Amino acid sequence: MLSDFTSNLTKLSNKMSLEATPVSQSQTTITELMIPSYANFGGKIHGGILLSLMDKVAYVCASKHAGTYCVTVSVENVEFLQPVEVGDLVSLHASVNYVGKTSLIIGIRVVAENVKQRLVKHTNSSYFTMVAKGDDDKPAIVPKLILETKEEVKRFIEAMHLKKIRNQIKAGMDDANSNMEVANAAQLLKDERCILNLE
Ligand SMILES: CC(C)(COP(=O)(O)OP(=O)(O)OC[C@H]1O[C@@H](n2cnc3c(N)ncnc32)[C@H](O)[C@@H]1OP(=O)(O)O)[C@@H](O)C(=O)NCCC(=O)NCCS
Repeated sequence: MLSDFTSNLTKLSNKMSLEATPVSQSQTTITELMIPSYANFGGKIHGGILLSLMDKVAYVCASKHAGTYCVTVSVENVEFLQPVEVGDLVSLHASVNYVGKTSLIIGIRVVAENVKQRLVKHTNSSYFTMVAKGDDDKPAIVPKLILETKEEVKRFIEAMHLKKIRNQIKAGMDDANSNMEVANAAQLLKDERCILNLE
């Protein structure tokens, strides 16, 4: 009797987690020591190393929420605000900020810690859009997101704006590209730091 009840409860909880999952369920942190082979010629950590770690934490977070394999489709707001040094401990905190039908926007906050000086600096925050894939390699529907705090609601709404702005930029770029008049270039570029040297 009790085992039937437990089994039904487990089934119900599994069904609910397929339909909707809280942000906290997939929140992920990866911490990595910055070793000398990660440095660039200037002795600071190569931006590509940080991007690769960001992609990794975004994948873990997205696939934990989706319960499927996920792919990276776009990256927004990558800015390296402060250099990261060899010997720093870099922690990447990832959270699902927004879900669409098959896509997820993952917010990533990167902090670098100098353990000897007990100094922690925020190096960047970025947004990775990931798409869940099914076994057929087609986009797969992801569970809804359960928002449990005001901060989570704020991030979800911010991500809606981000999506809207991204679509506007894309439409603007497509428009600019299709209306590109090289004949007007001299006028358009007159105050820019370039020299026209066309054949
Ligand atoms: C991303 C990908 C799955 C989209 O496939 P598609 O057939 O165009 O699918 P859809 O048009 O149905 O879009 C699926 C979702 O992706 C989103 N999407 C598609 N292109 C996007 C873009 N450029 N930026 C942000 N989101 C995008 C759509 O809005 C949609 O989200 P929704 O379901 O939540 O509304 C496909 O382009 C792909 O597999 N790309 C390669 C990804 C990859 O390999 N990444 C690794 C880096 S090399």
